[in-house]
Amino acid sequence: MVKSTGTAQLKLGDKTIDLPMYTPTLGPDVVDIGKLYAQADVFTYDPGFTSTAACESAITYIDGDKGELLYRGYPIEQLADESHFLEVCYLLLFGNLPNKAEMEDFEFRVTNHTMVHEQMHQFFRGFRRDSHPMATMVGVVGAMSAFYHDSLDINDPWQREVAAIRMIAKLPTIAAMAFKYSVGQPFVYPKNSLAYAENFLHMCFSVPAADYKVNPILSKAMDRIMMLHADHEQNASTSTVRLAGSSGANPFACIAAGIACLWGPAHGGANQACLEMLREIGTVDRIPEFIARAKDKNDPFRLMGFGHRVYKNFDPRATVMKESADEVLELMGIHNNPTLQVAKELERIALEDEYFISKKLYPNVDFYSGIILDAMGFPTSMFTPIFALSRTVGWISQWKEMIGDPTQKIGRPRQLYVGESYRDYVPVEKR
Ligand code: SDX
Repeated sequence: MVKSTGTAQLKLGDKTIDLPMYTPTLGPDVVDIGKLYAQADVFTYDPGFTSTAACESAITYIDGDKGELLYRGYPIEQLADESHFLEVCYLLLFGNLPNKAEMEDFEFRVTNHTMVHEQMHQFFRGFRRDSHPMATMVGVVGAMSAFYHDSLDINDPWQREVAAIRMIAKLPTIAAMAFKYSVGQPFVYPKNSLAYAENFLHMCFSVPAADYKVNPILSKAMDRIMMLHADHEQNASTSTVRLAGSSGANPFACIAAGIACLWGPAHGGANQACLEMLREIGTVDRIPEFIARAKDKNDPFRLMGFGHRVYKNFDPRATVMKESADEVLELMGIHNNPTLQVAKELERIALEDEYFISKKLYPNVDFYSGIILDAMGFPTSMFTPIFALSRTVGWISQWKEMIGDPTQKIGRPRQLYVGESYRDYVPVEKR
């Protein structure tokens, strides 16, 4: 329970309302307005939740001014260098780094849940081949609740844990199936002998007609991309999962809701939009034209991969991702990749431009990730599915934390109503 830090006073006319305040482990104090409506018959108003803490959480901390991201207190830079994705999954889910035995047990459980029910293959057949893989993922993940009935009782901690393990284990398989279906190749089953990221690349790029060995440079880079995307506090898709879960909906349906929300270009869809933008720019000499468009209030164009609701200095994930892009492309002998050159020059120019400086717009996690995924051979349509499979552990950890809180209740925001006041019905002949 957080430490109470006194009260804030709200003056409303001749009334003074005392509102409790709490001090978190890290970050700004909060003012508890939970009883404001009952006390003063007023709502607060914060449409984009720019100043609203919607829940108490112990999972991820972000400091937007310092550009810090901690998973259960560990800085993302240290985890990206020292850890691996499955260990980060354990950390996010259970709160501490596992010892050797705990890691082996967790890895065994995840590895032995990677296959999906064989009948789920039929779902893909119902989609057009040119369906966006995010569309198939939303559908197939939601349908998991039609198959895994023994992990739907959200009030049973064991079933909650099984659902979490299943989701972490099966999302890469489903994402790979969505990819294979979109390119008209046969599904590839997971192999228990492969590590998590290696297995995902195997399911995406191997074909029955040839032997395939995953390039260790790429599986290491993929594992790092997964770690960097694993969780991010109460972003739009995580808040969607929490709100869906607050009604008691089953975990598979909640994760499907998170995937749907992530798809938007203002959120997880930005990695696809960013690479397509870099390709449209094409060459460094065209950058000024796009910078001008981004600054033009009459042009809806925005620099994809730039800006963030929270980070107003730099996104620490973008820094790690940029290093990874350099490393991967160098190791693959494509360091003069034109898209990377455009990205670096665009970043340099934008960060010297008063518009971007004044609005505190910096590259975010989506700015460089697409360059690495493109170099790995993924089409841009697979960028957001990879973000989704990586963020699944964050979503399910936040869901598990919320459902495990005995005080949690259904989320039900109010509104500032600006519609018509009372009026009487008029029969059609009199209108
Ligand atoms: C993710 O929340 C998370 O944590 C998300 C995420 C996660 O891990 O879950 O980090 C993942 O979603 C990263 C963000 C990916 N989206 C993009 O890269 C799309 C491009 N970025 C923007 O759409 C925008 O920056 C947002 C959506 C990311 C943030 O929007 P905000 O916080 O609502 O900021 P805003 O739209 O109010 O912008 C503030 C000002 C505006 O100008 P004014 O109206 O004040 O004159 O900055 C401008 C905006 O027009 N602006 C941009 C811009 N982003 C903001 N101008 C040009 N290019 C941009 N990219």
